[in-house]
Amino acid sequence: MTQAMNTTIVIFGASGDLTERKLIPALYNAYCKGRMPENFNIVGVSRSEFSHDAFRDHLWEGVQEHASTICDEAEWQKFSQNIWYHAGNAKEQDVLHTLDAFLKEKENGTSNRLYYLSTAPSLYEPIVLNLGMANMVSEDGGWRRTIIEKPFGYDLKSAHALNDTIHRVFQEHQVYRIDHYLGKETAQNILLFRFANTIFEPLWNQNYVDNVQITVTESVDVGHRGDYYDKSGVLRDMFQNHLLQLLALVAMEPPVSMKADDVRDEKEKLLRSLRPVEPHETVRAQYEGYTETEGVEPDSQTPTYAALKMYVDNWRWFGVPFYLRSGKALANKTSEVIIQFKRPPCHLFGLPVDAQEIRPNVLAMCIQPNEGIHLRFETKVPDVIDQTRSVEMDFKYTTYFGDEPLPDAYERLLLDAMKGDATLFTRSDSIESSWRVIDHVLKGWQSPDAPPLVSYARGSWGPVEADILVGKDGRRWRLECGKKHG
Ligand code: BG6
Repeated sequence: MTQAMNTTIVIFGASGDLTERKLIPALYNAYCKGRMPENFNIVGVSRSEFSHDAFRDHLWEGVQEHASTICDEAEWQKFSQNIWYHAGNAKEQDVLHTLDAFLKEKENGTSNRLYYLSTAPSLYEPIVLNLGMANMVSEDGGWRRTIIEKPFGYDLKSAHALNDTIHRVFQEHQVYRIDHYLGKETAQNILLFRFANTIFEPLWNQNYVDNVQITVTESVDVGHRGDYYDKSGVLRDMFQNHLLQLLALVAMEPPVSMKADDVRDEKEKLLRSLRPVEPHETVRAQYEGYTETEGVEPDSQTPTYAALKMYVDNWRWFGVPFYLRSGKALANKTSEVIIQFKRPPCHLFGLPVDAQEIRPNVLAMCIQPNEGIHLRFETKVPDVIDQTRSVEMDFKYTTYFGDEPLPDAYERLLLDAMKGDATLFTRSDSIESSWRVIDHVLKGWQSPDAPPLVSYARGSWGPVEADILVGKDGRRWRLECGKKHG
């Protein structure tokens, strides 16, 4: 993508982790591929004092460590000449006025502007309001857009209030609520896989699917984020956004087109079809030793793991359980979606006669790592007449697309925001629909029916209660990507 008009990317909260680990490496990679606008400025804003050069040096360290590819140091020199730093507290209106003057000086003419809010969430509203008051949102001299990081709100009420405030300043088409899972190549491929092929979609419903499982596990613990995490917990940190978005991609109806609002209309319909999850359909757990983390209350009841059994009450999915689980400090990092198909109605090949003994077909979408898609089916064991064995058809990204790492999600999302393509960003209604689901679970956890907060060993696959949740239905969790295909 090259555009003649200047584009300025303003990062609020620029001294934070995300800028150095994700945003600048992503923009640098886009630059190396010739995908940045022809004329651009990147301006970091935060309270810490940095000279422009000190800021660039700091970012170069991040790029060396985190960029998926380093094209060449000379390219960094050229790229980084467009990076600037402006110190100040964006909560103060004066700072925005001086920032605007600084931006105009660097832009030297009309320019598009992308305001990236990567600050503490409590600053989102004041910054947005200040942008409005400083007249930095009017689109007379190029477009004005904002990307808002997660967490977007703390519950339905605060998310609604935040949407209201944002809409006082920006119109919805200018707002890009980011969920980096949607920028992952493999997550984008879910819709492609479903709607660019004809062989699976006819089976993608309650007639053929027995259950769907979404597993997003991490081996890391909360690390230095204890303060934030202890107030959020796994439902707010992972389910409200990433897991529900994956669920929406897997279960939504085909959109009219791939245009942003057509896709987002279908996602919103799906989120609205989710049945409220009751406490007995949930498990909440905390890993051993969590309360010793800095920033965490010594008697904290915050779950670091949860499992939910969900239903989509619509024509396609009625009665099919969707089991979702996510947690930290687990055995392995894996994000995968499993579609388990129904078993054949009876067993024709050897004993026993009971069809329950036949292994079901399983389709595994490996979001990360070991990116790919695998289909498991039964086959005859050679030279014996009464035995079947499960085998797999495997698609691995590396086999077809080489060993180059897949582009980082932020690269795609930043470029999309500059292009004005909001398909992979969450619309205000869906943010609120997701919170409605999560609020209901959280309310259940405050009620007398709440499941106990159980603990699990670090490095395990989570508490036994999660196995019981699925086991009660005669099923078990499947791990198809995380421990295989390595
Ligand atoms: C973030 C959460 O949104 O996603 C983190 O706040 C989590 O707690 C991270 O570690 C996981 O992302 P990924 O891309 O590493 O799976």
